[in-house]
Amino acid sequence: MKKKIICVVGTRPEAIKMAPVILALRNNPNFNVCVLATAQHRDLLDQVLSVFDIKPDIDLNIMRPNQTLTTLTSRLLLKLDEVLQAEAPDVMLAQGDTTSVMAVALACFYHKIPFGHVEAGLRTWDLQNPFPEEMNRVIAGKLARWHFAPTESSRQNLLREGVPDADIVITGNTVIDALLSVADRSMPLPLVLDPNMRLILVTAHRRENFGKPFEQVCYALLKLLERNLDIQVLYPVHPNPNVHDTAHRLLGNHPRVVLCAPLDYLPFVAAMKRAYLILSDSGGVQEEAPALGKPVLVLRQETERPEAVQEGVVKLVGTNFETIVSEVQFLLDDESTYQAMARGVSPYGDGQAAARIVHVLKQAVL
Ligand code: UD1
Ligand code: UDP
Repeated sequence: MKKKIICVVGTRPEAIKMAPVILALRNNPNFNVCVLATAQHRDLLDQVLSVFDIKPDIDLNIMRPNQTLTTLTSRLLLKLDEVLQAEAPDVMLAQGDTTSVMAVALACFYHKIPFGHVEAGLRTWDLQNPFPEEMNRVIAGKLARWHFAPTESSRQNLLREGVPDADIVITGNTVIDALLSVADRSMPLPLVLDPNMRLILVTAHRRENFGKPFEQVCYALLKLLERNLDIQVLYPVHPNPNVHDTAHRLLGNHPRVVLCAPLDYLPFVAAMKRAYLILSDSGGVQEEAPALGKPVLVLRQETERPEAVQEGVVKLVGTNFETIVSEVQFLLDDESTYQAMARGVSPYGDGQAAARIVHVLKQAVL
């Protein structure tokens, strides 16, 4: 008998990282795969699912403008309760550390449904950074039956929390599966970028950076643009109003800043490939850019992804104005340091993570 497995996607990165798993499970005759979209993100989620040709079987349509963490969590739990009651799956899978994932883990616990956590074991050991994601993944980790850890260091984090070794499998990160799966597709950049300029690609959305820290990032970009007439900034702005409004207010009028709506996954990968360097507080971008040989300066105090920092291809710069200006300027001026960061390494995976996850599930539930 086929086993019923529900794969959950809520936000953009979850869709990108779950797509390879959904497609691999669908190719396996032993599983009946159901895709549940919480739609914690409405627009960004739909964008990504269409790239991978995935249509949700169940859609909770959760997103509300400028949603708070408490209302988001309550609405998720109430709706998941109904779905799990009705569907009674054999297994549920979710990826990462969003509020959707935390709510799914909790709902599975209440319904006694085995939960598999994809991208398990990432930790900063600081509940405020990133907020609320560190708490979300701790809760998911406490409740998971299977921990699909991307790297050895994420496995070590889980062991430190008392997770039995037998419940952890190192798979690599499915984001590299996703990236490699689109690598051969044509990816036209929709925007006219000046080929004579060095492109700085920017993304930002973390809650702990709202307000002053994010304003400092914008002022640092303006200072760098003033000092360097050969740079152009491409910044696909996250729709969160706390980010969107500040970005447009502070950067909207600069002739060498291209502010645009979030890019579809393929054009965004093209933008990463075209970039000279990337400034970002994104988790996924920290994983993808090293594989594309692009230096990333991370706009955060801490990272749960130490591997690329240890490789020397990603650097934490935080959100301090002076630090951002000096670190970017150094990379713009110092060719050998730049080349050392642009080596092209892939500490997060080999593109086979989804196959490993399916293999484990097959052994465990069939
Ligand atoms: C969420 C996740 C974060 C993840 C990020 C990926 C939580 C608490 N946060 O942050 O971990 O790194 O997604 O991007 O789980 N919005 C839209 N359309 C969209 C998406 C968002 O308009 O498609 C706007 C809405 O006003 C929404 C707001 O952004 O209320 C915030 O969305 P939310 O998912 O709560 O937080 P993010 O900052 O997107
Ligand atoms: N991304 C995208 N379009 C954009 C910006 C990012 O497709 O305009 C992709 C990016 O390649 C990565 C993922 O979205 O795979 C990262 O999502 P995000 O930064 O929103 O979340 P995080 O990874 O920080 O949770």
